[in-house]
Amino acid sequence: MAELVRFGVSLDKKLLVAFDRLIAERKYTNRSQAIADLIRSMLIERDWKVENRKVAAVITLVYSHHRRELVNKIMDIQHDFQNLVISTQHIHLDHDNCLEIVATCGKAKQIMNLANQLRAIKGVKHTSFTATTSGKQLV
Ligand code: NI
Repeated sequence: MAELVRFGVSLDKKLLVAFDRLIAERKYTNRSQAIADLIRSMLIERDWKVENRKVAAVITLVYSHHRRELVNKIMDIQHDFQNLVISTQHIHLDHDNCLEIVATCGKAKQIMNLANQLRAIKGVKHTSFTATTSGKQLV
């Protein structure tokens, strides 16, 4: 088991109260567990961005169903990055909007480039980007 180290943290009381509420919502059993998770999450994000690690990432797009040219543009760009795209799912969100989920795997910078190209398409209403790694080179 890893060596545990105790350290003190000084915080604004209101911030701590809000943090404790968050900890309870997320079902952490103690603050140490929540803080370790936050630190690990920041380290993993820094690591894949700075070191350009291989990541698994999900890009989501919301766009108007009525603008059919958008579907073609979105598909063309995905074909340009077909080495990164594992699968896509198209969901008819409501009468006017489509949601597309693009699952990817590859080098972080290439996937961010793909996400940026999709985000830049005129008419795309909202995009999100989530990437993760195993973090095995960290703790
Ligand atoms: Ni649709």
